[in-house]
Amino acid sequence: MPANKKLLVLPGDGIGPEVMREVRRVIDWMDRRRMVTFEMSEDLVGGASLDARGVPITEETMEKAREADAILFGSVGGPKWDALGFDKRPEIAILRLRKELDLFANLRPAIVLDPLVDASTLKPEVIRGLDLMIVRESTGGIYFGTPRGVETLPNGERRGYDTESYTTSEIERVARVGFELARKRKNRLCSVEKANVMQSGLFWRQTVTALHQREFADVGLSHMYADNCAMQLVRNPRQFDVIVTSNIFGDILSDLASMLTGSLGMLPSATLGAVQASGKRHALYEPIHGSAPDIAGKGIANPMAQILSFAMLLRYSFGMDEDAALIETACTHVLGSGLRTADVMAAGTARVGTSVMGEAIIRELDKLA
Ligand code: IPM
Ligand code: MG
Repeated sequence: MPANKKLLVLPGDGIGPEVMREVRRVIDWMDRRRMVTFEMSEDLVGGASLDARGVPITEETMEKAREADAILFGSVGGPKWDALGFDKRPEIAILRLRKELDLFANLRPAIVLDPLVDASTLKPEVIRGLDLMIVRESTGGIYFGTPRGVETLPNGERRGYDTESYTTSEIERVARVGFELARKRKNRLCSVEKANVMQSGLFWRQTVTALHQREFADVGLSHMYADNCAMQLVRNPRQFDVIVTSNIFGDILSDLASMLTGSLGMLPSATLGAVQASGKRHALYEPIHGSAPDIAGKGIANPMAQILSFAMLLRYSFGMDEDAALIETACTHVLGSGLRTADVMAAGTARVGTSVMGEAIIRELDKLA
């Protein structure tokens, strides 16, 4: 049995705690089977932390995050905290974690599972078999660029502004992640920016092109403007293998891509830092969906994105590919058996809530293991 691994669980707000409960069952199941034992701790983030401690994430929680081998994150935010000032929003928790742990590569897969081919709003023939990966830069760009602010101009008018900016090393390190992933997949990388209107976009394109020539000439590289990419993702998403793009374009395009698969409730993500000299790599895993305040507390949320995020954690942080695949297969089988949460319902399937779905996944794991 592998040695203990330090896991920090941050359920957050809204449906976060509900779907995280189902992950705990999977973890307990693995523990019972002696597959792996985690040294787990759980803490508050987002609105939950604001309510209890007055800040979206405390220094102690940040320290725990730095010490953890992997972080499993739920979701943050909700209408209750919407009126708070910019420095107090629940979202600061995830932004601080990304920035201060230098988690620069946000991997967002969009995979269409066969049982869910009818759950998408797109025609089955367009999305069947889709398997694409968006690599979103997540510590730079307009999310963090300076100057930013709101000012009053001499004429009395007000002006709000943010700054998009990328350095050579910021672009290269995330592009490297994209190229390396492509090599393990269909060997195609599409780099996305707005080189036609943005200085930083043209610089992004030139930097990726130079890196390609220097280190990754064996990988098929293409470039696309972000607006065209949005259109192509809906028109013919299977043309893509790996997409690499900036923080803001990745935010938008990954929401779009998630809908190709039918539901935001299905998609996990991994956010990875650099491999350090010690061999350790900070990593955070979270579903793509948010806290979904409209359905929070109703017991109807789909726990799969959170459970599949845990599977990604096993794969990317601990090299436990087989165990990750086991969980992924269990989820696919349960969907194939016709059990569905409300978000992925289709004719002829049975609607179940969060915890029944969790139980079904455990039963399927029992069968498979
Ligand atoms: C995401 C979310 C976050 C982002 C928010 C919650 C800050 O939309 O992870 O995509 O914009 O990065
Ligand atoms: Mg987003």
